[in-house]
Amino acid sequence: MSELKLGDKAPNFDAETSEGKINFYDYLGDSWGILFSHPADYTPVCTTELGTVANYKAKFEKRNVKVMALSVDGLESHKGWIKDINETQNTTVNFPIIADEDRKVSDLYGMIHPKADDTLTVRSVFVIAPDKSIKMTLTYPASTGRNFDELIRVIDSLQLTAYNKVATPANWKNGEDVVISPSVSNEEADKMFPKGYKEIRPYLRMTPEPELNN
Ligand code: BEZ
Repeated sequence: MSELKLGDKAPNFDAETSEGKINFYDYLGDSWGILFSHPADYTPVCTTELGTVANYKAKFEKRNVKVMALSVDGLESHKGWIKDINETQNTTVNFPIIADEDRKVSDLYGMIHPKADDTLTVRSVFVIAPDKSIKMTLTYPASTGRNFDELIRVIDSLQLTAYNKVATPANWKNGEDVVISPSVSNEEADKMFPKGYKEIRPYLRMTPEPELNN
């Protein structure tokens, strides 16, 4: 089983999807990406998850994130199920779903965990930066649907910390204070954070969230 780690390059692939044959890197272009697997079509938790992702289209677009889903079911199954998702979740599925019948992509990304289920994928998520490095992974079992607000929160943190020398504290949400990276000296922090900062301990300095890309 593949063991992709943070910082590894996300493997590229060609795949049959509900939106035609797609090359993953071409699809991502210069955007951030999310590749996520679900165990099976026509199942209740997966139906709510894919409906939620479709309904979050504007949130992903605002953050320049392209989304691609995967299951090991076939194209005809995906097409029929998408109709069900649209009807029951009051949405229009607006991202490709890979039909990974030969498990090529699942194996490439280690999405099958044999001790959980030796044929179906678990609920994996890979967040991929524009340079194609893997920035976050998570793995949930089939019985637990993912929290896509948490995924949006993580993307906000990843994007903020990619462009600023800060990190985000426990339960941080967009707009709240952040911590200054330990590698930044106080002299540098004075220049880098014009809104100022509060030194609670020498290693714990809080500052208002910087503007993205500053
Ligand atoms: C579901 O999506 O509801 C589901 C899929 C596989 C196993 C258990 C639940």
